[in-house]
Amino acid sequence: MNIRETPIFVLRPYGDEKEVDAIREVIESGWWGNGPKVQEFEEKFAEMVGVKHAIAVTSNSHGQDLIIKALGMKGVDIINPTISFVTTAVVPMWNECTSNIVDVLPDSMCIDPADVVKYKKSNSELLIAVNQAGIPAPIDEIRKIFGGFIIEDCAHSCYTEGAGTKGDVAVWSFQAVKTMPMGDGGMITLNDKDLYEKMVEMIWFGIPPTWKRFTGSGYAWDYEIETLGYKYYMIDIMAAIGLTQMKRLPDLINRRQYIQKIYNKNLHREIKRPMWSDVCQFYSCKVNPDLRNKLIKYLSDKKIHTSVHYKPLHLHSILKQNRDYPVADVEWKKSITLPCHYGMTDEEIEYVIYWVNSFFDNHR
Ligand SMILES: Cc1ncc(COP(=O)(O)O)c(C=O)c1O
Repeated sequence: MNIRETPIFVLRPYGDEKEVDAIREVIESGWWGNGPKVQEFEEKFAEMVGVKHAIAVTSNSHGQDLIIKALGMKGVDIINPTISFVTTAVVPMWNECTSNIVDVLPDSMCIDPADVVKYKKSNSELLIAVNQAGIPAPIDEIRKIFGGFIIEDCAHSCYTEGAGTKGDVAVWSFQAVKTMPMGDGGMITLNDKDLYEKMVEMIWFGIPPTWKRFTGSGYAWDYEIETLGYKYYMIDIMAAIGLTQMKRLPDLINRRQYIQKIYNKNLHREIKRPMWSDVCQFYSCKVNPDLRNKLIKYLSDKKIHTSVHYKPLHLHSILKQNRDYPVADVEWKKSITLPCHYGMTDEEIEYVIYWVNSFFDNHR
């Protein structure tokens, strides 16, 4: 097969005139900031997840920060999995909490309840469970052995049926290459009214939203600030993209599921298939660790981009922990993420399969 001239990206957002029209409408409305589009997005998102409240934020990372601050957690221990994006380990540190990084399960690469039991401390008050690659984390099991507050990190699971309903609160991401991308942005979803109201107050320096202070003769300027707040709210330009992407979501997911099925069926037998993911944020399969980096280079030479999700967090110098990680340390070296996104054509899917299989045929 001839080598392509243009690369196949490992992840990529998809949008067209519909997103452009949605942004144009907001631009022309003259209301670009936090306003009615954000409110509509929050309402529709809460309905999709099946919870009472949603708060749109600048990112999942800021969402997690807002939750920890609203809970008033400072100086406590926060448990999080080593296979994750750096957010889940570092946001606790923003809040002067210890980041207690634990091991994962070998198949799902989600947080391991047995390791939580082994390493939880007397001051472990919060746990962040990541639905890795869209595969649900074992939160029901964790509930049995951990009595603290649970954040369900749904950055990869938008939208897996049932996601966002197991933790005490869920946080989503619409960063540029997520399953429902908006460039950037996040959402917090929950049922707890008091925590919701506290976060709404903190999202903009404790100031009530401008557009809700409109009286007909102008905006009421006299407000009282009683809370230490931040600037984490979403704006209407972003929410317009989010509402449009939300309409596309069934198509976006169908295509990812299709690619996952075709890969599972046709990739070389030496490749260990990942557990099924409804959204397949990453098609992260496993290969012989001695061949993994050679395969990455081989595919790169064929213009196929790949990635690794993730190098364990405890291997980063700032996040080092005084313990071993028998599962993550072995499993991550096998892991490789192949291209999987809505815009991939059938020819591109075949092209990836062809070159992956040819690599293994030549390395036996
Ligand atoms: C598991 C996980 N949590 C949190 C984040 C952070 O999301 P955001 O970029 O919206 O802050 C990411 C982003 O990649 C992620 O993968």
